[in-house]
Amino acid sequence: MRTPTTNAALTTWVEKMERLCTPDKVVWCDGSQEEYDAICQEMVDAGTFIRLNPEKRPNSYLARSHPSDVGRVEDRTFICSVNKDDAGPTNNWAPPAEMRATLNGLFEGCMAGRTMYVIPFCMGPLGSPISKIGVQITDSPYVVTNMRIMTRMGQAVLDALGTDGSFIPCMHSVGAPLAPGQADVPWPCESDIKKKYIVHFPETYEIWSYGSGYGGNALLGKKCLALRIASVMARDEGWLAEHMLIMGIESPAGEKTYLGAAFPSACGKTNLAMLVPPKGFDGWKVSTVGDDIAWIKRGPEGELRAINPEAGFFGVAPGTNEKSNPMAVATIKSNTIYTNCALTDDGDIWWEGMTKEPPAHLIDWKGEDWTPDCGRPAAHPNARFTAPASQCPSIDPEWENPAGVPIAGFVFGGRMSKEMPLVYQSFNWSHGVYLAATMGSEATAAAIGVSAMRRDPMAMLPFCGYNMADYFTHWLNVGRRVSNPPRIFRVNWFRKDDEGNFMWPGFGQNMRVLKWIVDRVHGRGYAVESPIGWMPRHEDIEWAGLDFSPETFYQLMEVGREAGAKEAHAHEEQFDKFFDRLPKEFIFERELLRSRLWRSPDHWGLAHEDVVRPEAN
Ligand code: OXD
Ligand code: MN
Repeated sequence: MRTPTTNAALTTWVEKMERLCTPDKVVWCDGSQEEYDAICQEMVDAGTFIRLNPEKRPNSYLARSHPSDVGRVEDRTFICSVNKDDAGPTNNWAPPAEMRATLNGLFEGCMAGRTMYVIPFCMGPLGSPISKIGVQITDSPYVVTNMRIMTRMGQAVLDALGTDGSFIPCMHSVGAPLAPGQADVPWPCESDIKKKYIVHFPETYEIWSYGSGYGGNALLGKKCLALRIASVMARDEGWLAEHMLIMGIESPAGEKTYLGAAFPSACGKTNLAMLVPPKGFDGWKVSTVGDDIAWIKRGPEGELRAINPEAGFFGVAPGTNEKSNPMAVATIKSNTIYTNCALTDDGDIWWEGMTKEPPAHLIDWKGEDWTPDCGRPAAHPNARFTAPASQCPSIDPEWENPAGVPIAGFVFGGRMSKEMPLVYQSFNWSHGVYLAATMGSEATAAAIGVSAMRRDPMAMLPFCGYNMADYFTHWLNVGRRVSNPPRIFRVNWFRKDDEGNFMWPGFGQNMRVLKWIVDRVHGRGYAVESPIGWMPRHEDIEWAGLDFSPETFYQLMEVGREAGAKEAHAHEEQFDKFFDRLPKEFIFERELLRSRLWRSPDHWGLAHEDVVRPEAN
């Protein structure tokens, strides 16, 4: 095949990788529908893909991964900066030269018996000054098809790259070479977790991933490029690469407000990004710009503007249904790849939470017979759908605007079953950065081996490509450089009562909280000062269409002084890890928080008579 690019740096790199990995052949992906269909058919023939019933799910496929390869492997993810301190205490680090030697050993001959695909891709709209071009080399046809949905991919990217353009090299192998005559398996990968490596070289903007074919480990445009490497580029170039959805909220009067919202993996970002306003919100519209990643830069008027660098959704499937996310249900009706979902007898897919009553019989995500009483989940908890963003009925008209959309507010939320209020607003930018940096969340299924509550600053703990203390400083600086920085909020949809029931209905009802946030960013919402930030009273939230008593609301908003003080103390432990790199502002913010709490009654919350209620601003 003639090489379809005149970019010498690219051809030299591809030739070098071909010599290292010794594939049977090399295929440059053009990104066409014909190419996509042909690769899908090859995977159907190989047993990797099952074509779903075309009447129920046109042009859609189910893949089942190896049971050892079902999520991101944070323990095997490395930031290999020259100096260990530049990776910081929250990242795995190895000396770059040592890691390069390890990787060279692993990649040597690793594509024997396989095809090496070259995938030119663009994160962000092609031609946008904000976008970045990457080239992924992979031996996984599953990755090729997913990358075609998740990014702008193919010949158009090579054309944009031209002769001299630079690209981020993303090297990937499933790590399963085939000996001559050896039969392949449907999901080849390295099953020994210790031999999986997801490696980033931040100084040279390079990615190497070995041994896994799943999600963020293998679709290198997503977490590896658009977050870990992009966060380093963003630091170097003065912008932000964030684990955030971007949504638009339009009032009945036509006022449009865009928010960026960061939540740890599998906390419902896709649901929030596609929220359908509930009863009582006639005339309000919510639109989706992105569900996972935001690249945010200063616009011409000094405002912050965001683009979604992705072109598709790689969403958590279980729990998605007509009620929790009707927009996602519509998005994934066709042209979708399902991974680790269950298969119905009529060739459709199913997962826990899709319907109230499970089907009487299924083939589960491991390919085994399943009945409702068998005691096993039918879909893996981290089962996914990969679907084009353009198919989403709530997609925002501006979602591909190369200049991005203006961001008026940032929302940060974890999964906290206790002592974290439904919503509050920071006093100012640096307090907001502090709130975001101290965010905690209870474990979800998206990452393997993560348990209990962990601090997840800005929901970026697994995704920040450099020392998080420097990242906090970078955030503080960004706020100083923009005019009228976005307002910052904390939310928590996941508080539970003593019986373990969620206290807040969530999903579409989150609109009530968003409306208060929108009011606040436009300087007209009412709020009361509390020791932790500005809080709405019951009467400041729109309740039309929902019966939600002031008592329950105030329980949802309450924090005890003890709990608050314990939390502030825990921040100290978190910050100690960063030594002298921690921004000084955080020390002062913590002391201010402590003194505000110290002066507060035992229990405070807006329901308590003994709370002094200052004049709302
Ligand atoms: C994701 C994740 O897949 O955060 O988006 O794990
Ligand atoms: Mn994510």
